[in-house]
Amino acid sequence: MKKKKIIITYGTYDMLHIGHMNLLERASALGDYLIVGVTDENYDRSRGKLNVSQSTKTRVKAIEALDFVDKVIVETHKKQKAEDMVKYKVDIFAIGDDWVGSFDYLNEFTHVEYLARTKGISSTKLRKENFKPVKLGLVGLGEDTQEFINESDFLSNIIINRIYSKNLNAVKEFTKYNDTVKYGHDNYDEFLDTSINAVYIDSSVSEHYIQIKKALKAGKHVLCETPLALEKNELKELLGLAKKEKKILLMAIKTAFLPAFNQLQQELKNGLIGEIKEVRANRTTLYREKKYSESYISQGATNLLSSYPSLLVNKILGKSKSISFFDQQENGYDISNTIITTHKNNARGISSVATGIKLEDSAIISGTKGYVYIPSPWWLTKEFYFRFEDSQKSYSFKYEFNGTGLRYMIAEFGSLIQRESIKSKMLTPSEMVRINRVSLDYSDSKKIKKEK
Ligand code: CTP
Repeated sequence: MKKKKIIITYGTYDMLHIGHMNLLERASALGDYLIVGVTDENYDRSRGKLNVSQSTKTRVKAIEALDFVDKVIVETHKKQKAEDMVKYKVDIFAIGDDWVGSFDYLNEFTHVEYLARTKGISSTKLRKENFKPVKLGLVGLGEDTQEFINESDFLSNIIINRIYSKNLNAVKEFTKYNDTVKYGHDNYDEFLDTSINAVYIDSSVSEHYIQIKKALKAGKHVLCETPLALEKNELKELLGLAKKEKKILLMAIKTAFLPAFNQLQQELKNGLIGEIKEVRANRTTLYREKKYSESYISQGATNLLSSYPSLLVNKILGKSKSISFFDQQENGYDISNTIITTHKNNARGISSVATGIKLEDSAIISGTKGYVYIPSPWWLTKEFYFRFEDSQKSYSFKYEFNGTGLRYMIAEFGSLIQRESIKSKMLTPSEMVRINRVSLDYSDSKKIKKEK
């Protein structure tokens, strides 16, 4: 029997349009069996495609429904194309002519054919026509404000032109010289009264609750640094309010939105390392050496940093049954804290946070059959290593990582607003509650000690 002529092509196929259909039909006409590789959302984000509007699952389903497509696969990493050519014994790799030259290296494995692209249509164009840009106002002027603005500049769907801070002189000085942010406010109500539809709050921890509450009540979506609140009832109230107002309330933990961090969670689902029994993660920053203000540092290591390891512990082990703290205090606040949590099946989380001592900021997820090592700083996840007793089986995974990592978080916030979705699957409200609980429980444990 004659071998079927296998054709393969790849793409994102966001908001499936006539250009995609034409390309796939032409590709299919080149042979007998058409395989379409749909790019995974984490892979897309790692290669700088930050505002794809549909999930991998939705895009796969749309392609599967096409008559002339025989098989759909998901593309997760750069080297996969070459691997697929061998795996599927591909005869022709076909792709639109906007890529001319880019895939010539695959001629080593198969025949590469560039097909004419349909003029006048693209997913980018459709996204622009279908979604309004997000107007975002900044709350608080601090060490990282400019970095946030710089990272937002990479996102075409976010416009930042306003800032609020109590310090009028600082705001005036900032807006005078800033290329992007032109309007400054020292009155929060007036700031909220403008045409912005979302805010990013990076003020002192004690101000978060009231600023979030006012913003939600004014109909704005909120992205806020952690913790969101310092009292249990306040956190509950804020989440309830966000739900009632149908607005997004998202914790600004950039790690949660990094492509490699999300890919790690997907890889763990295959159970390769067995039953997970322990998660260890540290997050330490010597803020004094980075010239952060004393008032910033005095918010305490747990308030400033614990959300990062708590994110990992919660993602992997879920809800905790108990929590213990082993802190070191100076001048009335914690400069370091080791947080131990217990979880179902006797699993444990061990994390250390510190602003006054420096630790190795790596993370290790340990299972009954192997472990995953994420090198320092694990919270800027770029790569991870799966390791086993039999070292032959070990492998690693690496994604590109652009800028400071903030852009992935801002992109998700913007895209949730544009898609009118109020929950991020990368950081859900119940995960946020569990992460915030660490700060709340720590401050409760201090209050109890004082009372005694
Ligand atoms: N394609 C095409 N004609 C178009 C748009 C896309 O032939 N008008 C082809 C691309 O060349 C590629 C495939 O469709 O082979 C998938 O492209 P993809 O990047 O998913 O679509 P775009 O519309 O180009 O997406 P974006 O605007 O996000 O880059």
